[in-house]
Amino acid sequence: GKVAVLMGGSSAEREVSLMSGAGVLQALRSRGVDAHAFDPAQQDLGELRRQGFARCFIALHGRHGEDGTVQGALELLGIPYTGPGVMASSIAMDKIMTKRIWRFEGLPTPDWRLVSSADDTVAALAALGAPMIVKPAREGSTIGLTKVTDAAQCAQAYELASRYDPEVLCEQFIEGDETTCPILGEGASAHALPVIRIVAPQGNYDYEHKYFTDDTQYHCPSGLPEAEERAIQALVVQAFRTLGCRGWARADIMIRASDRQPFLLEINTSPGMTGHSLVPMSARALGISYEDLCLRLLASATL
Ligand code: DAL
Ligand code: MG
Repeated sequence: GKVAVLMGGSSAEREVSLMSGAGVLQALRSRGVDAHAFDPAQQDLGELRRQGFARCFIALHGRHGEDGTVQGALELLGIPYTGPGVMASSIAMDKIMTKRIWRFEGLPTPDWRLVSSADDTVAALAALGAPMIVKPAREGSTIGLTKVTDAAQCAQAYELASRYDPEVLCEQFIEGDETTCPILGEGASAHALPVIRIVAPQGNYDYEHKYFTDDTQYHCPSGLPEAEERAIQALVVQAFRTLGCRGWARADIMIRASDRQPFLLEINTSPGMTGHSLVPMSARALGISYEDLCLRLLASATL
């Protein structure tokens, strides 16, 4: 039947989603799938049923796409979709909720404070120590994020983050290796793909470096010791299952340099599928092409 690739949307990651969606659409079509682009910012989701779409591939990122709202609409429409369901999507979009659950379950995640003013942010820096990351609780792609080392930077960092979300999160910065790891499957069959180690110029893996420059190095195989690679894979599978994820996701992890302890930063339930994106890169290391990955994800679409 007809497949809708949901892309675009109205979040701050709209441009990223258009790139992800274009890649997915082309890949599915190249394998004979009757796939069509569908932008929920421009078309009523109810059209999906009227136009006879049988399944959706969600290539939306951020608010109203990755946060359970579109997933809920598709549940009501009765159209199977890729990726986690309503609750897991909604929790994973919120970095604070995610961290609370991981912390409760004993999974390592950096210390944090929820702040609601510039003064709170200064207090958070005193409590957590420098450097500290200030970011919107529900955003992606490093949007609205500042690394602060000094109290003088707190007001501006808070102001920037709060432009994207009234909920602002301050998080202890973990100095060490930046890694990411995709997870596929569901429940007992959930499994991790190879870990990617990211080396950005000046350690600055921001929006530009994620999508538009070519000076970031991606190591996959990661070059990490085998035991560390395995530990990260086991950790991200736990992180995925603890939140009730299914289908796919990608968890971001920092490995603390001082003791090699991995820390979960967040889990992305609709990971990027752009030419620069990481899940396709990791899959490729296993011999899974971008096209095969898309087909596999589509086959996992469910209600
Ligand atoms: N938020 C972007 C799309 C990612 O995690 O890949
Ligand atoms: Mg993210």
